[in-house]
Amino acid sequence: MNNFQYYNPVRIVFGEGQIEQLAELVPTDARVLITYGGGSAQRTGTLDEVKTALAASGNREVFEFGGIEANPEFTTLLKAADMVNEHDIDFLLAVGGGSVLDGSKFVALVSSLTEEDGTVSRDKAWDALTSYCRDIDSAVDLGAVLTIPATGSEMNSGGVINYSERQAKLPFGNPLAFPKFSILDPLKTMTLPERQVMNGVADAFVHVMEQYLTYPVNAKVQDAFSESLLKILIEEGTAVKADPENLETRKNIMWTATMALNGLIGTGVPQDWTTHMIGHELTSLHAIDHARTLTIVLPSVLRELKDSKKDKLLQYARNVWNITDTDQNDDAIIEEAIKQTENFFRKLGLPVSLADVELDAAAIDPIIKQLEVHGMVKLGEHSKNDLAVSRRILERAV
Ligand code: NZQ
Ligand code: ZN
Repeated sequence: MNNFQYYNPVRIVFGEGQIEQLAELVPTDARVLITYGGGSAQRTGTLDEVKTALAASGNREVFEFGGIEANPEFTTLLKAADMVNEHDIDFLLAVGGGSVLDGSKFVALVSSLTEEDGTVSRDKAWDALTSYCRDIDSAVDLGAVLTIPATGSEMNSGGVINYSERQAKLPFGNPLAFPKFSILDPLKTMTLPERQVMNGVADAFVHVMEQYLTYPVNAKVQDAFSESLLKILIEEGTAVKADPENLETRKNIMWTATMALNGLIGTGVPQDWTTHMIGHELTSLHAIDHARTLTIVLPSVLRELKDSKKDKLLQYARNVWNITDTDQNDDAIIEEAIKQTENFFRKLGLPVSLADVELDAAAIDPIIKQLEVHGMVKLGEHSKNDLAVSRRILERAV
């Protein structure tokens, strides 16, 4: 196991009806900006529930900013950041999924990057994003009410921002962006369309894979946790598809998705975020849902890199898919595990190839160009996945 530091200050408040805890969790004299997405928080009543809880104690002043897009847009977020300054906001409360949470984290970080006229500087915010926001040293406090289990954003300090004008979808991370708390009410996930539920299961699955499927460093805790999370996602993903009304299933999916990307299983082990980085380009060029880009790319990453990932692929086959047929050679075992992974994604209604989203080989060149523009030229646990490797991965995904 490699050396590591693990720090996670996020208070998780889990369970039905827990939104009422906002009365205690948000400072009583705060000037709060509630941020939300395209309307689901209003439609489902969650926004009203949040406002009622905030009004139940203290003398908070509450403002609202709605309209944060799925794949949150840089320009929209700068408007929210201006609102933070205009109203002296000292607490951001994100109500929604990964997009609202990520967007709100970005707002928290960039609202101090102003021009002389007091508006948030587009250039400074862009510069910050292109250097992962890591040099920003102050941020507005942030809390979250999660309505879709998927990204882990509720318990991590990262995010991904889309800037359509520049065809860029870029990640950032800064410890100041850890939420002070996140409320996880599994009942809130019952209003999700099936597509979003399946997206969430797949995103969490791939998060675990990107931290697990590299090479062994004898990290038994991380490996066993990862394998358990994968098995739970296979079981509960299949269960939620068959019986979406089962709250117990929703609970397990919600906590698993949080655990998949709160830093724990990624400590002290090599990581490979190739699938995500290629996936981000697919989203920014073709507006494909984040999770669906991952299910398209992951099987090809595993096939292309099967030699350097061999030991872990065999471990994955054995411990996650119970492939123990000793008559098969290693290559056959690995291929069987990758096929099982694809079948699982297909069962959830997710695409596993470019053809499944009506793209063909002509899509590859522009993706490679964007990877180059964004400096994604040394991906993987060995930093050896250059553009030629990414091209081969995409060719396999056709
Ligand atoms: O916008 P509204 O109207 O709220 O609708 C949303 C949106 O259309 C809807 N929704 C959310 N909760 C709902 C609901 N509909 C009905 N009932 C509810 N309870 O679901 C749609 C998708 O929401 P979104 O927030 O975009 O989904 P998700 O949580 O999957 O987030 C995806 C974003 O997170 C980023 C992705 O790149 C993508 O931009 N990621 C963030 C990560 C992180 N911070 O660590 C890691 C991930 O790898 C991921 O990259
Ligand atoms: Zn993801």
